[in-house]
Amino acid sequence: MSAPVVQVVDDVDAFAEACAAHVVEACRAAIAARGRFAIALTGGSTPGPMHRALARAPHRDAIAWQKVDVFFGDERAVPPDAPQSNYRAARETLLDHVPIPSAQVHRIEAERSDLAAVARGYEATLRRVCGGALDLLVVGLGKDAHVLSLWPGSALVEERSSLVVASVDPPMDPPLSRVTLTPAAVEAAQSVLAIATSAAKHAALERALHADDDPRAVPAHVLRRAREVRFVVDRAAASGA
Ligand code: 6PG
Repeated sequence: MSAPVVQVVDDVDAFAEACAAHVVEACRAAIAARGRFAIALTGGSTPGPMHRALARAPHRDAIAWQKVDVFFGDERAVPPDAPQSNYRAARETLLDHVPIPSAQVHRIEAERSDLAAVARGYEATLRRVCGGALDLLVVGLGKDAHVLSLWPGSALVEERSSLVVASVDPPMDPPLSRVTLTPAAVEAAQSVLAIATSAAKHAALERALHADDDPRAVPAHVLRRAREVRFVVDRAAASGA
């Protein structure tokens, strides 16, 4: 992996614009090279401003949505209309506002009881649509330096065969089982966009960027095995102030 690029922006508005511009450029490059763009969105609250920037001009109109496939980095084991659903959050802040064909939005059906079967099915879709290699994987950074649904101490940080697995009863907030992409999916992706805002993420960001390599303790270290990583963070996350 090449060293990560770390882009520090002043505030959340600048964060939204920087992330949206990066997505637009990744989309342009992928479509130029391959005719399609496969992106996986992250859950949590951090991506909201980026999604809203992508859902309005100029970024919305700079994306060829009919050539885009949207995936999810992880999903909680709840129905798609539940408040904790990552799909619901992405739908409300982005997907309902852009002209992407619904068949190109690949939701993780984590409300089903057999999460291992859901993970297998989702992996098959990921392999069918883009050969298992996302053009852009967006990940949020947890306060404990987790990414996706790979939590500190989890053996999932060493998963390198499956692209998608069930993450049962993880000690995460909210305390829900999940389906998550794995380090294998991180390593297969063309590029990763890692995002963090607020002073609350400062310690996690420092560990992600500078601590000795230890994915069990710092799951964000799985990003060190990605082909290319850009961190876009606001000044509060970068400085802690
Ligand atoms: C999830 C997310 C998770 C998230 C981080 C950051 O489903 O919980 O995918 O990995 O990105 O926990 O969450 P916030 O953006 O809410 O701080």
